[in-house]
Amino acid sequence: MHPESLINDKINQLLKENRLGKTSADKAFESRLFDHLPLIHRLFGEIYSAHPAAEDQFFQLIVSLVQGHQSREKALIKRDQEKAKNGIWYLSNELAGMSLYVDRFAGHLKSMPDKLPYLEDLGVNFLHIMPIFESPAGESDGGYAVSDFRKVDARFGTLEELISLRKKMHHQGMYLMLDIVLNHTSHHHEWARKAKSGDSYYQDFFYTYDNRWIPNEFDAAMPDIFPESAPGNFTWNEEMGKWVMTVFHSYQWDLNYTNPIVFREMMENILFYGNLGVDLLRIDAPAFIWKKTGTSSQNLTEAHTLLRLIKQCVQVATPGMALLGEAIVAPKEIMNYFGTGEFIAQECDFAYNATQMALQWDMLASGETQIMLNAQHEILKKPYGTSWITYTRCHDDIGLGYDDYMIAQAGKDPYQHRKFLKEYYSFSGEQWMSPARGALFSSNPKTGDARISGTLASLCGLEKALIENSPLGIDQSIQKILMMQAHSIFLGGLPMLFYGDEIGYTNDYSYQNDPGKSYDNRWMHRPIIDWEKVAKAKTEGTVENRIFSALKKMLQIRKQRDLFSDLSNITWMGPHNIHIAGFVRRKGNERVYCLYNFSDQAAYLTWYAFREQGEGAEVLLDMWAETEYRIGPDHEYLILAPHGFVILEPK
Ligand code: GLC
Repeated sequence: MHPESLINDKINQLLKENRLGKTSADKAFESRLFDHLPLIHRLFGEIYSAHPAAEDQFFQLIVSLVQGHQSREKALIKRDQEKAKNGIWYLSNELAGMSLYVDRFAGHLKSMPDKLPYLEDLGVNFLHIMPIFESPAGESDGGYAVSDFRKVDARFGTLEELISLRKKMHHQGMYLMLDIVLNHTSHHHEWARKAKSGDSYYQDFFYTYDNRWIPNEFDAAMPDIFPESAPGNFTWNEEMGKWVMTVFHSYQWDLNYTNPIVFREMMENILFYGNLGVDLLRIDAPAFIWKKTGTSSQNLTEAHTLLRLIKQCVQVATPGMALLGEAIVAPKEIMNYFGTGEFIAQECDFAYNATQMALQWDMLASGETQIMLNAQHEILKKPYGTSWITYTRCHDDIGLGYDDYMIAQAGKDPYQHRKFLKEYYSFSGEQWMSPARGALFSSNPKTGDARISGTLASLCGLEKALIENSPLGIDQSIQKILMMQAHSIFLGGLPMLFYGDEIGYTNDYSYQNDPGKSYDNRWMHRPIIDWEKVAKAKTEGTVENRIFSALKKMLQIRKQRDLFSDLSNITWMGPHNIHIAGFVRRKGNERVYCLYNFSDQAAYLTWYAFREQGEGAEVLLDMWAETEYRIGPDHEYLILAPHGFVILEPK
């Protein structure tokens, strides 16, 4: 490849000769391009310099950036500039999100605009529209097996309808998040079809092998992602007469990022999404994008280099689009997705706080907070300028991916504790001790691992309480739902509700009758919204109303105080009561104490817990219950109701 010192001159010359397309209309773009060029060149070279197509693909990549910028609508360029003016726009406490499937929520893209007032009423102004690009029915993995990255699947509508929805959303002050499924394509994607037909150019887009030698080497060190429905990491393709790497389902072919053409093509797709007006791009499964025999092929250094390269390119061409890395990985790995060393806060802008999410469920089952506290030394390293997606659950299973030592340090046996959690949340018909109704997902008999499926409401006991017609059970489960939501809404980051949870949807077992879904019990917590049920949220006292109105109030509280913006990490309060998780949010001299009782008994917290924070206050106002507490002496207590919570600010 060209030496680094000459790269700016070379690009300058190509620009002058108009061989990269015209940029002169936008000086700001040109200056971004030249600012980032050396780093783009270096990162690209780190991965591809030895590849014969490296130089050619590098210049093609620059052309893609120029073209990506040229295709950007004026309105989006203006939005980029406005975002840049407002500091780091995505740290704002005024953002509140929801993930939803267009078809299951509204039926069709056409109907989405009519549903926006409902979301607005709840306080949601940030939409994660679950994958909507073409994906073969029956082999779609909920849209994560994409056969055309640029065509909206006819089931949902058209690209024009998507753009018109985005325009309406932006006009109303809303934000849009979409996915790029970076790691794999559907085996129906044009590249895979050409590979199957014997085209070696496209076979190089994937990891294809004539025999089992290399696949065996990979398999020896790679875990199974879906051990029940898709064991192993390779699939034999008869048509091609080759093995192909399929880490997820056998119909999802892993893209080969050792090929710079694949990177450049996918980068163009990323910019295409940027130009659709995406505000936050969810990079699906980034931990998996680089593979190496003898390793788990997850979280590898090269995967981080590629993400940094993507970040640099996006900053040049579509700078208003932030990046979310969907890395659901061990606590010590997750921080690396925010960037390390000279790249701190220069990789993904967001990550899912999956550790804390899972630990909320741990605390709910055990009623104890120690394991969660033992994980914090990892989670609290998040650098300034980056943020979490905070959530109680999403469309995926809940993995119990925190480390064994965190459990052991709490004095528990990791194997027995995980067994307890799995039994607590999965319903085998013999659960005398647990009100939760969920199911195990992807049980791996080899390792004993399993994850958990089920809606927030069912896992909190609402399904059982409704079946038993138990008013007490209903009250208790609603209290749990609200505490879980309050925990993730005030935690720090962008709260992302999952559609249906705002009105207490319980599990939907109808997926079992659909052969395209029955092998995947995550569908039990992906409801089809019945708008008559939604309407009940308007009637005082209904379950729907109790949950909806409480969530609405939480989001309002969060929006009122910019102290809830994610400008600094939280501080955990001393563990004076093992059942209470308490953290402090601070901004300047302002502070708020958020406390949650994870036990089903009243819990007592010494007033010393507040004094210990070193900030004198006499009276605390609970923004949630709108009551006041006078801070008493150390031997007196704040009493939290079973599964109760308080959001206290000094008066
Ligand atoms: C992500 C998605 C999940 C999907 C997987 C494979 O983890 O959230 O739903 O199955 O990627 O694309």
